[in-house]
Amino acid sequence: MRLPITRPFFGPEELRAVQLPLESEWVVQGPFVQQFEDRFAAFTGAGHAIATSSCTTALHLAVVALGLRPGDEVIVPGFTWVSTANVVEYVGATPVFCDIDLATFNVDVDQIEELVTERTVGIIPVHLFGLCADLDPILALAKRRDLWVLEDAACALGAWYHGRHAGTLGVAGAFSFHPRKSITTGEGGMLTTADPELAGLWRSLRDHGASRSDHLRHRDAGSFLLSEYNHLGFNFRMTDIQGALGCAQMDRADWILERRRELAALYDEELAGLGWLVPPHVPDGYVHGYQAYVCLFSPESATPQNVEMLHERRNELMLRLGEEGIATRQGTHSPVLTGYYAERYGLRPEAFPNSVAGDRLSLALPLFPQMTEQDQTFVVEALARAFASV
Ligand SMILES: Cc1ncc(COP(=O)(O)O)c(C=O)c1O
Repeated sequence: MRLPITRPFFGPEELRAVQLPLESEWVVQGPFVQQFEDRFAAFTGAGHAIATSSCTTALHLAVVALGLRPGDEVIVPGFTWVSTANVVEYVGATPVFCDIDLATFNVDVDQIEELVTERTVGIIPVHLFGLCADLDPILALAKRRDLWVLEDAACALGAWYHGRHAGTLGVAGAFSFHPRKSITTGEGGMLTTADPELAGLWRSLRDHGASRSDHLRHRDAGSFLLSEYNHLGFNFRMTDIQGALGCAQMDRADWILERRRELAALYDEELAGLGWLVPPHVPDGYVHGYQAYVCLFSPESATPQNVEMLHERRNELMLRLGEEGIATRQGTHSPVLTGYYAERYGLRPEAFPNSVAGDRLSLALPLFPQMTEQDQTFVVEALARAFASV
């Protein structure tokens, strides 16, 4: 048996979809990207959706349009993909790391306020692995201290918080369509916002700062003249090939998400008795999107003293599972442990014990819609066998 960590779900519809822009010969951002944006906005309930080349470029565009600049500080979680912090660095501002709550792997809302200084301008909560961060207290704090909240919703398609979809609560949300995500366009991202002015600015900024997209310009009379360029923009556009693929994936999104939830529920049930592996926790009022099924390796509670020993055991367990053909991964990494951030800001791991535990002890199990009940039982049995030998 060979079980990868994930598999995209592509059928004849996706194969046909990517042919359409090739046949039309319009392959850069065009009608399919527009259709994908409209479908995505309708799905999430966001007023506007703006497609980009990745979630990282979506976050980058977002902070540029929000006016982030050198000297500013932005609070980001200590356990997240490094892009969340990198986009703050790109514009010369400073990411300030906040430790996480190990029960949810999301930012610990009780620790945010003490990190707010007179230089803080925003917070980027992350909805890690498809579970929303606890946004109500974050939004309340942001309002009190006049900060913006940008949701890193890279993993959060199908993630709901008290009846609202991720990416519709802060000033904007940024989603990813990397193949590790529930739906994929190869690479790709999407910004969602309710603010029409920001949406217009983001459309321009992703396209070199153009006042009108190439597709509109070519369609309209007077296409021999270029647009106006009044902003310092980027080329962060999605291609129409990706847009067409995104539309085909949207047709399946409900089914994919439903299937992921079913599989997660079965894992929850089968793992409940293990005792040394903590399955994902879903607080009341949340719907988990299960971009990944990430557990915590926890034969004993992690402390700064035992975390490295537990880390070795978790890695040994992952090695054994690999030998049985089962791919696993650490959930994500902790930027505070990366060479760049540790050195640049002299960060000490002891200041972020839960982020370190997330980095060292998280364990993602295979999860993809094509998995069968048999596959899952095999994973659970292999976990028990592997644990007995570590
Ligand atoms: C939390 C988080 N933010 C940002 C990103 C970056 O997404 P992309 O690869 O689309 O740039 C990822 C990707 O894994 C992520 O998990």
